[in-house]
Amino acid sequence: MKNEQSHRIPTTDDIEVSTYLGIAKELHGEQATPEPKPLPPGERETIVVIDFGSQYSMLIARRIRECHVYCELVPWDTPWEKIAPLNPRGFVLSGGPASVCNPDVPLALPYVYDKHLPVMGICYGMQVITHQLGGQISPGEKHEYGHAILYLNTEDCPLFASLPTSFPVWMSHGDQILATPPDFKTLAYTDNSPIAVVGNDEGIFGLQFHPEVVHTPVGKTIFQNFVYKVCGCQGNWTPANFVAESIEKIEKQVGKGKAICALSGGVDSAVTATLVHQAIGNNLTCIFINNGLLRRQEPERVLDTFQRNLKLNVAYVDGSERFLKRLKGVTNPETKRHMIGEEFIKVFEEEAAKLGKVNFLAQGTLYPDVIESSSASETKASATIKTHHNVGGLPTKMKLSLIEPLRYLFKDEVREVGLALGLPEDMTWRQPFPGPGLAIRIVGEVTKERLEILRAADWIVMNEIKKANLYRQLWQSFAVLIGIKSVGVTGDYRSYGYTIAIRAINSNDAMTAEWAHLPYDLLARISDRIVNEVPNANRVVYDITSKPPATIEWE
Ligand code: XMP
Repeated sequence: MKNEQSHRIPTTDDIEVSTYLGIAKELHGEQATPEPKPLPPGERETIVVIDFGSQYSMLIARRIRECHVYCELVPWDTPWEKIAPLNPRGFVLSGGPASVCNPDVPLALPYVYDKHLPVMGICYGMQVITHQLGGQISPGEKHEYGHAILYLNTEDCPLFASLPTSFPVWMSHGDQILATPPDFKTLAYTDNSPIAVVGNDEGIFGLQFHPEVVHTPVGKTIFQNFVYKVCGCQGNWTPANFVAESIEKIEKQVGKGKAICALSGGVDSAVTATLVHQAIGNNLTCIFINNGLLRRQEPERVLDTFQRNLKLNVAYVDGSERFLKRLKGVTNPETKRHMIGEEFIKVFEEEAAKLGKVNFLAQGTLYPDVIESSSASETKASATIKTHHNVGGLPTKMKLSLIEPLRYLFKDEVREVGLALGLPEDMTWRQPFPGPGLAIRIVGEVTKERLEILRAADWIVMNEIKKANLYRQLWQSFAVLIGIKSVGVTGDYRSYGYTIAIRAINSNDAMTAEWAHLPYDLLARISDRIVNEVPNANRVVYDITSKPPATIEWE
């Protein structure tokens, strides 16, 4: 499915993208993870990843979480006072773009060594350890980038337990270690790096290669060995433990207060609402606004799941008519978005006002958003792009305290928690759907007739993609009504109908995307069905543009 013929020049980002996607697909279940133990009351164990700015830092955190060990990513200059409450069991020092051979570069703060906890430095992290503990490094004249074979010098290093004596790894570095710090041994080498892994008896290790990327196939075992055999973690980070911990926390935070939550039908708000409901019951009211821009059967399914099955307190508002009225005659995409956003907040505030005094707003903020908005300035810029996308965001006037139970979860962990909470699979695995809904998939004016045509076409696309077992693999797949009409022939008659575009893309984070190479026979089936089953549609085209330069949505 991946677009191998990409026009893009591969950058570390691209590698990360494929790596990130690969984790779930390629390595899931490949190496057995020890059975997680129940969380002893009040006990949390954390591996702290000290972030020196590598593209792969978030991936390190993911890998550790996959071992059922909680992990947080913190900027390299985070003071001990913020680390101590996490109950750290070990540190991982990430890679990063700097060179310890230069002055004024980020280094590990003293606590990383003074607390006598295990440390694993990766790439730049290894160079930091070597530099700070008295080894020698030469500025790289020869960069090493790509696959290498790692040869172990020893058989009894806990980091490499149950691994063969040589295996492929992924290298990406400039500087090289010339001499280990005193009391450190060289544990492994590659053809180009005579000192590729170092370690001492206190559980401090340095790895020149990247165990976190899929190109190091035994990476997961190395992380497991580090967290279990070196740090002595128990592995109590599981969806069930997370649910129990969160419920306790929310109960404490909210007390007898009242909370509201906007339901969208997406997995983040669904999991947030369900967790908060389990904690405070009917003191949570979910507001579900049907803006008339949802897909076929969507409002019914959301209500069925939350009201009938999960017994949440849902205030359902059918705002279809008022949204449509505001959109009458509007063709500018940005104006559409603004109007929908404004109207959403209005309806939300009106509904909330009916509930009397409310103190809390529950929101499905995820960990990548938290990391993005707390790191370097260019990632802050990207966070702004998303805020703009968040139609129906915070009603700031209402001065509510936030409940954000998913603040430290990655998207796939949210899905696992959703399943643990008993949410249906079609909700936990739903592809992203934009806040302004079908309005930004209709080029030009949004009318009832056009919405009906698009709903019918989109239904066919979704069904066929699901039947072909591609729904989960694709980041998004949907139909667009591109607003032009063309001439066709149906039976003996000339027709003049709408053109439907199909969009299917692969992506990691929606910041970039590649159009998916869907099989021709699948495209043919979708096309046949649309022209036969959707009234007033007589032509189907496939959008073969990546992002950039196109965006995922047409408007
Ligand atoms: P674009 O079209 O900018 O979309 O490539 C990137 C991702 O964001 C989604 N999207 C939105 N989501 N409100 C949302 O909640 C919006 O206004 C919005 N616009 C785009 C889009 O579906 C894709 O996943």
